[in-house]
Amino acid sequence: MGIIKIKTSEEIELMRTAGRITGEVLREVGGFIESGLTTAEIDSRAEKLMREKGGEPVFLGYRGYRHATCVSVNNEVVHGIPGSRVVRGGDIVSVDVGVRINGYCGDSAATFPVGKISAKAEKLLRVGRESLKAALKQARAGRHLGDVSHAVEARAESNGFSVVRDLYGHGIGRDLHEDPLIPNYGKPGEGIELKPGMILAIEPMLNVGGWRIRTLPDGWTVVTEDGSLSCHFEHTVLITDGEPEILTWPKKIKM
Ligand code: MF3
Ligand code: CO
Repeated sequence: MGIIKIKTSEEIELMRTAGRITGEVLREVGGFIESGLTTAEIDSRAEKLMREKGGEPVFLGYRGYRHATCVSVNNEVVHGIPGSRVVRGGDIVSVDVGVRINGYCGDSAATFPVGKISAKAEKLLRVGRESLKAALKQARAGRHLGDVSHAVEARAESNGFSVVRDLYGHGIGRDLHEDPLIPNYGKPGEGIELKPGMILAIEPMLNVGGWRIRTLPDGWTVVTEDGSLSCHFEHTVLITDGEPEILTWPKKIKM
């Protein structure tokens, strides 16, 4: 186990800026996604937005990754490589955005519907959003990491979905990935105690079928083993003395 950094007030200000820009980009991406776009077009438009806002894509160059975002369609869980694939009505598209500005990172993801999607897919997205919200409600000083993890698992499984067990949320700051790892399953009261000044990227990944995943031969794209649909929702959140501050939410919301 490494050290979980407590951010100073100066760092928190910088993280607020990075988070706000990340959240704005993701919301604007959600606004322009439509049938007929390729995943590469979604990526390049997102990258343009990041740069216009004064940020840089964190993922570009990360472990040799060559794009600004990850765009994962339907049975793809995360780390989909933008390319010539065209998204069509009925698809669900997960976009993962990381922006660095003044040395600090924001990280946020969401799964968007293209046109009309199936009732099952609608439910998956609703429960995915709810599972992140349930986790964020536990993201308070004095709670434990297991409370956050359990909230995701409980919300997903009570609705008949599974949570991906081999990929995690993470601390975030100067680096995209800092300690701690944040599983999307766990037991209440277990794990480290949350403290004001910690900044966490919480990211539930839910599958319609089983929790197992595999990575395609491209070395990046993670898909569900059974081919079922998957969703991904992520926010960067600051632990405070009171309400969690969701840094990647463009508007202030009450938890
Ligand atoms: N956003 C992912 C995460 O939260 C990281 C993407 S990996 C990259 O962990 F290589 F695409 F950057
Ligand atoms: Co992340």
